[in-house]
Amino acid sequence: MIIAIDGPAATGKSTSAKLVAEKLDFTYLDTGAMYRCVTLLTLRNSVKINSNHHLDSLLKGFQLDIKKNKDEYFFYLNGEDVSKEIRRSDVTKNVSAVSALSIVRKTLVKIQRKIAEDQNCVVEGRDIGTVVFPNADVKFFVVADLVVRAKRRQLDLKILGEEKTIDSLIKEIHDRDRYDSQREVSPLSMAIDAIEVDTTNMSIDEQVDFMVNKIKTLTKEKK
Ligand code: CDP
Repeated sequence: MIIAIDGPAATGKSTSAKLVAEKLDFTYLDTGAMYRCVTLLTLRNSVKINSNHHLDSLLKGFQLDIKKNKDEYFFYLNGEDVSKEIRRSDVTKNVSAVSALSIVRKTLVKIQRKIAEDQNCVVEGRDIGTVVFPNADVKFFVVADLVVRAKRRQLDLKILGEEKTIDSLIKEIHDRDRYDSQREVSPLSMAIDAIEVDTTNMSIDEQVDFMVNKIKTLTKEKK
């Protein structure tokens, strides 16, 4: 079974997706983290993203592993744990441009489909319900007010030791959403059969309960 959770930046998708997966005993797949890993790879190798040749060989030779330890997921790039580094601002600043490249998407979508091939998964991203798994069993599209999202992101970054103003985060999130929604390949958009969840005034527990109840009701109806 596949549960797709899409939506713009910092809406609470990751937190909800991870907890929904735990409650259902499904595997959680954070595809945004995968795009962040490839972005880190390009930054470390100083690859110009318009130089397809260089990117091509980089994508052929990299190793991406996801390991779970005590309910936490860790991302390994060529054997190195980069889970923290991929959340930093320089990666965030560049991730939309890297994700817009079809060669990057082709490479990662293949890995995503392979992971979900033989297990129940909650898959979170931007194009999961529209492109990666158009036949997902249940699809959610998570949205929230922009200022609330900026405040949530400010807290996330504080934990990583980065201080950012609300205004700069509002701009950054807004710009990234616009870029993700307007790109040619697999733009961020709500699948016609997705359920919209507005988390502006919801607690994490409320978001998770809402989704789990919907999944239970809808999958029972299908049987
Ligand atoms: O957590 P946050 O909302 O900041 O974003 P994320 O889920 O970590 O995704 C980071 C970026 O990866 C997004 O802004 C998109 O540009 C890209 N992405 C994508 O293109 N397709 C996906 N399925 C997931 C992420």
